[in-house]
Amino acid sequence: MFTSLLALVAILPAFVKAQSPIWGQCGGKLSLLASTMNAPYSLRHLQAKDGFLAGPTTCASGSTCTVSNPYYSQCLPSSAGGGGGGTTTVGTTTTPTTTIGTTTASAPTGSQTPDAGNPYLGHNIYLTPFYAAEVTAAAANITDATTKAKALSVAKIPTFTWFDTVAKVPDLGTYLADASAQGKSSGTPMIVQIIVYDLPDRDCAAAASNGEFSIANNGQANYFNYIDQLVAQIQKFPDVRVVAIIEPDSLANLVTNLSVQKCANAQTTYLACVTYAIQQLNKLGNVYSYLDAGHAGWLGWPANLSPAAQLFTSLYKNAGSPSFVRGLATNVANYNALQAATPDPITQGNPNYDEIHYINALGPVLSSAGFPAHFIVDQGRSGVQNIRQQWGDWCNVKGSGFGQRPTINTGFSAIDAVVWAKPGGECDGTSNSSAARFDFHCALADADQPAPEAGTWFQEFFVTLVTKANPPL
Ligand code: BGC
Repeated sequence: MFTSLLALVAILPAFVKAQSPIWGQCGGKLSLLASTMNAPYSLRHLQAKDGFLAGPTTCASGSTCTVSNPYYSQCLPSSAGGGGGGTTTVGTTTTPTTTIGTTTASAPTGSQTPDAGNPYLGHNIYLTPFYAAEVTAAAANITDATTKAKALSVAKIPTFTWFDTVAKVPDLGTYLADASAQGKSSGTPMIVQIIVYDLPDRDCAAAASNGEFSIANNGQANYFNYIDQLVAQIQKFPDVRVVAIIEPDSLANLVTNLSVQKCANAQTTYLACVTYAIQQLNKLGNVYSYLDAGHAGWLGWPANLSPAAQLFTSLYKNAGSPSFVRGLATNVANYNALQAATPDPITQGNPNYDEIHYINALGPVLSSAGFPAHFIVDQGRSGVQNIRQQWGDWCNVKGSGFGQRPTINTGFSAIDAVVWAKPGGECDGTSNSSAARFDFHCALADADQPAPEAGTWFQEFFVTLVTKANPPL
């Protein structure tokens, strides 16, 4: 087999020369395992030789090949100033800020005593220039004028910024400096919203978002260093408040997926890493943390509520009950309604068929166990309901629309804010079955395809989010 491969390698240069279209792949790793498992040999498998893509490495004119992550380089529009993680230069121009509801008193940040109430009160939310650049570049490629205008308006809606590799951490310093300047000039302090997302053996029950660190290879120490670097950036700007979502899916996997070997193996390390993250961030005095808590269709099943509450509470108490841990984030990167008009048929059997039912069921259990039961809820891609074939489908759900806008006027006292945590248009996972991080969910009938690597731009999906937004953009 090795000899046959060598013989065929000679034909590669012809393909290597082809250009990748805008938004297409121009470099990155493919899975050797997937490639060698399959026969007969196809070009796709040849491309997987050595684990690196041997496809086009150059981009169509008007776009530039930009490294998004170790798995994927993408042709991004040159005019938009990039958009690839870690390599993007953000301008020094002042980005417009936005409020997400009526604000009242403003508390000073940088204190050692957290606000008693909603940390979003009295602040404006920083618009990350990275997402604004992605959206602006995407809009430039939409021809229909109405859709283009709607797409552009998304750049003014605050989303969280995911720090999914250590290489991106310096960007946080840029954003905080920018936010600090904006806060000073407007007189209203700013919030920068971040997602801490770099655990070793990340995404232990799936493949699409496997990360850069592995437990077997110094992962915990690498993670502690990642947290230290985040802390070093944040402590330079005590006047800016940070709201952090801690490690999507990690603790939920420890509640329900310990039967998965990779999760069982990761349990101790996840707990040590999340504990370190909340303790170190807590020392800063300006970071309010929400631990990720899955969603209604995961920890919201009645049998999971109590084990989930126990895990959150024991982790919190063992960490010394850090006072700036404000509560939990739900539905991050998922598609559930906050309050469904009627239960989606796929939720059958679970009385907690939407996020508010889940929160109302979990909150009292948390409170009685001594955990702060405040919530933020991602509604970024929840505009269209009843489009999944199964509740467990999470990858690029076809027909999704942008959802309720971020607000602190949530209508529910337990919910501090409706947020957009997943930047709409960034992919959930590749549908390429030869890719190292291929997850079968991304090739299901209700998953939009062809889809690029997790975290990279998915233009067609974005356009659908825009056109199907509910409420409309
Ligand atoms: C990806 C990350 C990305 C995030 C936000 C996750 O699914 O794994 O790389 O930053 O989504 O788009």
